[in-house]
Amino acid sequence: MAHRIAVIAGDGIGTEVMPEGLRALKAAAKRFAIDLDIQTFAFGSCDYYLEHGKMLPDDWFDQLKDFDALFYGAVGWPAKVPDHISLWGSLLQFRRRFDQYINLRPCKLMPGIQSPLAGREPGDIDFYVVRENTEGEYSSVGGKMFEGTDREVVIQETVMTRTGVDRVLKYAFDLAQTRSRKKLTSATKSNGISITMPYWDERVEAMAEAYPEVSVDKFHIDILTANFVLHPDWFDVVVGSNLFGDILSDLGPACTGTIGIAPSANINPEGKFPSLFEPVHGSAPDIAGKGIANPIGQIWSGAMMLEHLGHQEAANALVEAIEAVLAEGSPNVLTPDLRGQGNTASLGRAIAERIEGK
Ligand code: NAD
Ligand code: IPM
Ligand code: MN
Repeated sequence: MAHRIAVIAGDGIGTEVMPEGLRALKAAAKRFAIDLDIQTFAFGSCDYYLEHGKMLPDDWFDQLKDFDALFYGAVGWPAKVPDHISLWGSLLQFRRRFDQYINLRPCKLMPGIQSPLAGREPGDIDFYVVRENTEGEYSSVGGKMFEGTDREVVIQETVMTRTGVDRVLKYAFDLAQTRSRKKLTSATKSNGISITMPYWDERVEAMAEAYPEVSVDKFHIDILTANFVLHPDWFDVVVGSNLFGDILSDLGPACTGTIGIAPSANINPEGKFPSLFEPVHGSAPDIAGKGIANPIGQIWSGAMMLEHLGHQEAANALVEAIEAVLAEGSPNVLTPDLRGQGNTASLGRAIAERIEGK
């Protein structure tokens, strides 16, 4: 039976990398005889907002809930729509309403890419950030008081629930258990954030009891960011709250050369709702329209989607094609963030051709 995939390209370079993501997906589908039923939606973009006064139609949940997966580009164009409106009106709704409580973000130094960290080789950086994706610092609990006066107060609460914390920790421990190093690092800040973060640490300790084979350490987020740069080889599976995971999942890929290659999977592990696959990066207004965005983050997200849909071999072929093209390192093919003179299409085409075996 066909896998039903909803495509939302979004804004800026989202609309430029999506065609390359689809090109690679279709190449893999052809090679491995996978039936994909792809449907494209115009909502979830700032242009849709300017036309309709909202990011999504009222019935978006019903329109999307029966898809097997959502393939997203990037959303946000602050010059047109304030970011908190466009993001809370689209991506963050998907994550919450579809209970995509895991945000899985691999971070790997690929052959052919030079890390900005001196002396780092492929193999030195190869870890996952597991980010809590539905609660934590991204909460809608709070508000403004005495607006416009000198007594103005703004409050936004961090919300951690036992279910919410335990389920992301369990996922991260399970993942660590499958890895050869079996190592889990928890991001905390329990020295300063004195209620929620000690609670997070407490739940990590409780969960660790069920995983005697996994070695566990924790760092406060400030020194953890420093250690990402100084000792990226220390990390295997790094688990963090929504905000900490967000920050770490831009820093990690930057250490691997460019955030343009970083993929992510917003997963509802129970499969009750569709999961969402998107690059880590945003709409990049500074380079949008130039056709030079790196499409690898989108293509690799497509690989994560194929894996999620049960097509491990096709997913592997996609990642291998990415690795082969990067290792080849042809300057005419690679995008400028990889020190090449190529563009989105040249890199996307080269990867698709590899997948097709050309
Ligand atoms: P960004 O990720 O869009 O860009 C940061 C920097 O990285 C820019 O210099 C950009 O040119 C570069 N970059 C990003 N992706 C690249 C790629 N594929 N190839 C080459 N270079 C790339 O982050 P930002 O500037 O903070 O945000 C821009 C907009 O995107 C905002 O509206 C923001 O809210 C939104 N955003 C959306 C998502 C998402 O949809 N998941 C993620 C992050 C940011
Ligand atoms: C990401 C993005 C989003 C986040 C923004 C755009 C709301 O930065 O997917 O990492 O903070 O989760
Ligand atoms: Mn982010």
